[in-house]
Amino acid sequence: MTQLRETVRVNLPGREYNIVIGPGLLAESGVLIAPMLGRKRVAIVTDENVAAAQLHNLQAGLSAGGITSEVLILPAGEATKSWDQFSRTVEWLIAQKVERGDVVVAFGGGVIGDLAGFAAAVVRRGVRFVQVPSSLLAQVDSSVGGKTGINSPLGKNLIGAFHQPSLVLADTAVLGTLTPRDFLSGYGEVVKYGLLGDAAFFDWLEGQGPALAAGDMAARVQAVKRSCQMKAEIVQRDETEQGDRALLNLGHTFCHALEAATGYGDRLLHGEGVAMGCVLAFELSARMGLCSQEDPSRLRAHLRDMGMKVDLADIDGDLPDVEGLLDLMGQDKKVVDGQLRFILARGIGDAFVTADVPRDKVLAVLQDALELRG
Ligand code: GLY
Repeated sequence: MTQLRETVRVNLPGREYNIVIGPGLLAESGVLIAPMLGRKRVAIVTDENVAAAQLHNLQAGLSAGGITSEVLILPAGEATKSWDQFSRTVEWLIAQKVERGDVVVAFGGGVIGDLAGFAAAVVRRGVRFVQVPSSLLAQVDSSVGGKTGINSPLGKNLIGAFHQPSLVLADTAVLGTLTPRDFLSGYGEVVKYGLLGDAAFFDWLEGQGPALAAGDMAARVQAVKRSCQMKAEIVQRDETEQGDRALLNLGHTFCHALEAATGYGDRLLHGEGVAMGCVLAFELSARMGLCSQEDPSRLRAHLRDMGMKVDLADIDGDLPDVEGLLDLMGQDKKVVDGQLRFILARGIGDAFVTADVPRDKVLAVLQDALELRG
């Protein structure tokens, strides 16, 4: 098989790093990480599910590069992004005698990447870490760009630090172990990139999306590469989210309200909420006369094609009423000086950040979406 390999460079002065993308990278992890190390030893943080399915492959890859590893296996799931598991991880890293010159390897989805990255940010005031993301969502979003952290009882991701990884290894063969639902949830974030800044990429996804979901490896590599390129460009412009980085939150204000309403669990996965949130953001944009009504319709059609959740009617069980949803949106992190900021769009591939959104327009979009539930 010809080698499918792509590298995206994140050019942050003094903290540049590569995102390497392709199938079979776990097997090469040792060769790729060894040049970063003084002593050939790493500390791996992972979760139970990833450990059961893939840890042997990562450890074999590290050994092939002459690297030994110690492993901390945490419970799987969002509840792991807690103070308890965070302090457990930090104390474990200290007990492993991790030093400034050492490297922590975060091997898992967004939860592990966020938590292990944050632990690496604070142990000895910061040690380097390598992201080895195992979910599509982590490969295209959370493992790139240096946002690390845990949840507070008062809200998601309220505790954390910007700490860039030193390397990201996105092994696209690992995506073959995801359930179709988890894969498609991550695809919600892929579509987001087309919608926010690259209409040609959205066109391409309309054509290639079904093959990509069915396992076409070359298409998977291209989708992860383009997503990472776009994220890298935005993070280079605005690492700490003073402006443009907020574009990456397209669909997220609606999504966070829906996730809060459904208990951050199996009723609605994050990427599913992002896709639905993008539909609502485009509906709102159309209603404000910013884009044509064809744009949300086209997005809906593509998500339906992919077999994804599209409308609030696709969420099982009760939802709050329109005022309840609006209250949950008000608790979003993107509230600045009490004003809710939205990411709206002038069309597919042309999103922008604004606080200038009439409340009645948001209410009307949510009302219509809730009425479709019947
Ligand atoms: N996931 C959004 C960001 O990294 O800014």
